[in-house]
Amino acid sequence: MTPLLISFSNIHLQYQNGTILTEVIRGIDFVIHQNERLAIVGKSGSGKTSLLMLMAGLEKPTSGQIKYQDQIITSYTEDKLTDFRKKNIGIVFQSFYLIPNYTALENVALSLEINFQKNALSLAKEILIDLGLEDRFQHFPRQLSGGEQQRVAIARAIIKKPELILADEPTGNLDDENAQVITDLIFSVSKKYQKSLCLVTHDMDLAQRCDRIMKIENGTIV
Ligand SMILES: Nc1ncnc2c1ncn2[C@@H]1O[C@H](COP(=O)(O)OP(=O)(O)OP(=O)(O)O)[C@@H](O)[C@H]1O
Ligand SMILES: [Mg+2]
Repeated sequence: MTPLLISFSNIHLQYQNGTILTEVIRGIDFVIHQNERLAIVGKSGSGKTSLLMLMAGLEKPTSGQIKYQDQIITSYTEDKLTDFRKKNIGIVFQSFYLIPNYTALENVALSLEINFQKNALSLAKEILIDLGLEDRFQHFPRQLSGGEQQRVAIARAIIKKPELILADEPTGNLDDENAQVITDLIFSVSKKYQKSLCLVTHDMDLAQRCDRIMKIENGTIV
């Protein structure tokens, strides 16, 4: 087995809204190895997106420890977490969060520019061409269809070849043909560069392409 990339030890996540306490994650333990592809499946509301948020350091657990390689990221400050995320994580969110006043090309290139990488624009062009968006470089998100926005979001997540790619229903808004192109691209980046992938999906065919499938029910692994 390759070395561990990320490990969750007894992770709990609760939200307190006024007097209402919602327990979203209830004591979860799991690991992802380097160059491993893990699918997370489960019903709506079971806690899948919450798990990705915890892996990305966008949410802090109420208790438990998350380790990334040999660093305990649950003890990081917000600044350190942001830095960690920029360097190591590429995320495709369920809602894409493209920057509205940046073009498709700028949205993708930004992901490299924040890490001070050179050739950001030409690399961004290459990946957008791969995704069939060669005529959409200068379009703003509002001028793109849902599926096109999703492809831009995927380009942005994988362009920097992060150690861990997190994808939340990455093919949810796409027709079969584009879904195939996108999944092939995500898997080929992951395999070619030996990067780990954690994929949330309702599509069992897609889940089967991963090395392992983890099912979540009501905040626990079943
Ligand atoms: N800020 C919050 N405050 C209270 N409850 C929350 C909050 N965020 C999420 N939840 C609850 O946590 C549970 C898990 O949400 P999560 O988004 O992780 O589900 P999911 O498995 O990704 O669902 P879906 O398949 O619909 O995307 C849901 O019941 C949701 O209502
Ligand atoms: Mg979700």
